[in-house]
This record gives sequence, C-alpha cells and structure tokens, in this order.
Amino acid sequence: MQIVIQPDAQAVARYGAAAIIRQIRQHPASVLGLATGATPILLYQQLITAYQHGEVSFQAVKTFNLDEYIGLAATHPQSYRYFMQHHLFNHIDIQPENTAVPEGDAADPLLACEQYEQKIMAAGGIDIQLLGIGRNGHIGFNEPSSGLRSRTRIKTLTQQTIADNARFFAPGEYQPHLSITMGIGTILDARKVLLLATGKAKAKAVKAMVEGPLSASCPASALQLHQQATVVLDEEAASDLEQLAFYRHIEQENAALLRRLNRD
Ligand code: F6R
Repeated sequence: MQIVIQPDAQAVARYGAAAIIRQIRQHPASVLGLATGATPILLYQQLITAYQHGEVSFQAVKTFNLDEYIGLAATHPQSYRYFMQHHLFNHIDIQPENTAVPEGDAADPLLACEQYEQKIMAAGGIDIQLLGIGRNGHIGFNEPSSGLRSRTRIKTLTQQTIADNARFFAPGEYQPHLSITMGIGTILDARKVLLLATGKAKAKAVKAMVEGPLSASCPASALQLHQQATVVLDEEAASDLEQLAFYRHIEQENAALLRRLNRD
C-alpha cells in the first residue's frame, strides 16, 4: 500500500483526480471503477473542470460503479445512479451507454449481480478503482464480515452504515437496508486501487485498514493484498496512524527517487 498524506480534503481530491486523468491520458479507453458518497464529490468536480479546460476526454472511457441501493429506481434522487448523473456524468463527454451502476430495481437482483460481473469482465476488467471507506472499514457496501474473495452480490447494510447515510435522506423518507455491491474479490481484481479518506471520523477505520491485521472485520484491510493500492489521506484521516512519520519519510524518498529518474 502506498500511503499519501495531503494537507486537506481539497488536496486529496486534486491528487486523486490527477491520478485518474493520467490514467485516461495514457489509455483513453480506460475502464474506471467509481464510488459515491461525500468523499469523491470534490474529485468529480476536479474531473469536470479538467474536462471543461480540454485537459481530458471521457469519450472512450467506460465506468462501473461500486454499488447501489436495492429498491431505488435510477430516477430516485437518493439512488447512486442519480448521484453519478448529478455529480459527474451530466457534465462530461462520457457516452451514457458506457456508464454502469448496479440496477437497484432489477426484477431479479441475483441475476443482475451475475450480469454485472460478466459486464466488467467483457470490458476487460477495471483499470483503476476509486474507493471511499466507511467508519466501520467497509469498501463498497462490503460490511464487516464480508468474504475477502466475494463477488458482486446482495448485502445487508449494518445499523452504523444506515445511520451514517441517513444524512442523505429526508426525515421520514424510505431508506433501503439492502444493496447490490461489487465484492471484495471484484475490487481486488482492479489493476489499480485509489482509496480516498478525509476527516477525523475516518481515522480509526484508516488505522485498521493500513496497520491492523488483514481481517474480514475491516473489509478495507483486504487492500493490503493488492499490488497497486494507493491510499490518499488528509491529515485528520491519517491522525491515528502509529507509523505516520515513517509513511511521510517513504513518500519523500519515493518523490526523490522519481525526480532522480526524471519520472516525477
Ligand atoms: C459508495 C461506497 C461507500 C462509501 C463509504 C464512505 O459508493 O461504496 O463505501 O465510499 O461509505 O462514504 P462517505 O464518502 O460518504 O464518507
């Protein structure tokens, strides 16, 4: 795991957006894995700005979102499809048919899960998967105790996740307790993983992911098994890490090495 510590959430978003733009510039037909939630919103704004300035085009890009609530149609304002349209897809030149979000209102959700996996495979797999992290260490909606090799499937949300996400729903509004989510195995198959975390509320989960044992009780710790996982943190999210000084030191050493090799 490469640990990158940035001063604040805006800098985290800039770092993440730069990595995605680099990927698309090198491979215009890249396959991106995308996330919803509060964390990636700033990054999506950076991508929109870069597109508006002609710095990147999404014409040939394909995307697969991590997850969706079961029971919400794509037109529901709390659905993750709606979120993606609103925060990214409506503002860039991506082909609508190249954007995939699990179907929350599929007549047969089990079949929808299988087909989602097949569709990812048919696209050649995911080049770079963007992730946030839940306070309980979830990635996608892979809650604690999720199988570390799991594939896209239906997952029940924990009370903590339901409570954390209640902020997005109006008081009294129906809030689903079930989701379709890529599995941890699906996420680990991505060629690169980019996890962003900001704010003090994520510090405990970040510590468990980076320094804790590899364990299904912190699903994000499975990223310890990935060969190209980058974790981008602001100071608050990094604040519980015991080896913080060492991670900063490695970052400086890496930057110096890249400069020497003219690869910065
Ligand atoms: C969203 C997702 C979730 C979020 C996580 C953090 O598609 O899969 O794992 O990344 O719940 O959410 P925020 O960013 O709202 O703190």
